[in-house]
Amino acid sequence: MATIDNSRGFTSNVGAILAAAGGAVGLGNIWRFPYMLGQNGGGAFLLVYVFFVLTIGVPLMMTEFIIGRRSQKNVVGAYKSLSPNHKGWIVLGVFGIVCAFLIYAFYSVVAGWTLNYIVLSCSSQLAGKEPEAITLLFQSFTESSFWPLFYQLLFLTLTGVVITMGVQKGIEKVSKILMPVLFFLLILMCVRSLTLGEGTKEGLNFLFKPDFSKLDGSSILAALGQSFFSLSIGMGAMVTYGSYIRKEDKLFNTSLWIAGCDSLVAILAGIVIFPAVFAFGMDPASGPELVYIVLPNVFNSMPAGGLFAVVFFVLLGIAALTSTISLLEILVAFAVEELHWKRSTASILCTAIVFLIGALCTLSFGPLKDATLFGKTIFDLFDLITASYLMPIGALFMTIFLGWCYPKVEVRDELSNGGVIKARAFELYYFVLRYLAPIALLFIIVSGIIN
Ligand code: PHE
Repeated sequence: MATIDNSRGFTSNVGAILAAAGGAVGLGNIWRFPYMLGQNGGGAFLLVYVFFVLTIGVPLMMTEFIIGRRSQKNVVGAYKSLSPNHKGWIVLGVFGIVCAFLIYAFYSVVAGWTLNYIVLSCSSQLAGKEPEAITLLFQSFTESSFWPLFYQLLFLTLTGVVITMGVQKGIEKVSKILMPVLFFLLILMCVRSLTLGEGTKEGLNFLFKPDFSKLDGSSILAALGQSFFSLSIGMGAMVTYGSYIRKEDKLFNTSLWIAGCDSLVAILAGIVIFPAVFAFGMDPASGPELVYIVLPNVFNSMPAGGLFAVVFFVLLGIAALTSTISLLEILVAFAVEELHWKRSTASILCTAIVFLIGALCTLSFGPLKDATLFGKTIFDLFDLITASYLMPIGALFMTIFLGWCYPKVEVRDELSNGGVIKARAFELYYFVLRYLAPIALLFIIVSGIIN
């Protein structure tokens, strides 16, 4: 084996797992998952979601890690170096960059909201308000122009600072501090929600008791989109992080840990939210506003709710930050390695471009409310297009690349760390990679488009 250069990447397996789990765990788990589940019938959605995570999610994460670690490159560089004779695959890398811009643009809007809600809850401005007043507060905030843009830019800047500090001193160090804090706060919130007395049974039933009559084609597509979005797969985030994983780390175990953490956080978020929602007679299917409108009401009705509101929004902010870090790193790694920009310059310029596109998403709640396509605002379109279409399409082409256009021996070599470890499940993985995943993806993408 060639000499191993670990200086460009993560310093330990724990560091890699926490950083990548940080990228995966985010608003997708705590903001998007509960409202998706609420709108798609509860328990049955959860079951389909977990099924997709295990059968397609984990193998696809391994696929991205293999592409990244084999090439030791960013998304674009990876395909360039693994497929020197077929330059066309670079398009898949560029596709990942475009996806990262689009996701970061709308994601940073909601990430910015969390900062506003941290300020509101810390200064007791949510406390004691009537439900109508809380709804009005959310609406007048999101519909205005200045503050949402301000908080969005603040969040982007915070992310840019971490990325400028580098992979080890920025991404890895911050994840090692924030991820344990996140778990601690989440468990604290679970205890609070489960000890409210009323609502617990109803909430847990809603979350865990599957009612398959509520499941249709579009909710299955939504569950797939959710699993892709939540695991950050199909667009190159895990290719980039994969290039930082040490050559001696086991990619299968690493992927399992990350997917496990990610699903656990989503389920815990459900345990925090639904018992409380039912305890105070709120609507679990209220949509994207669930955590910003429904929860502040819930906090107002519970003992020590003011404190738990602060805890919750800090938790949400932390989860969002470790994810925006992974989004910006995709772009910055590309700019540094392919365009030879300085890391700091790349952080600033990429952040500026994202802010330009992201501002449109922010304003689509207010001044640009009527700029719609198929009845969807710019924000909704970015969300839907990336999670339900672009990420599954990106994933499909990744499986075609690694399963059909890249030598099997090389795939086996990377997964077995150059033959050092026994990759016992290799044949099973390779079967999923070549047949199961592409066929399932194709089927779901086509049925989604027809729908
Ligand atoms: N997985 C992140 C979340 O759940 C979102 C994300 C998607 C981050 C794609 C990076 C890349 O919030």
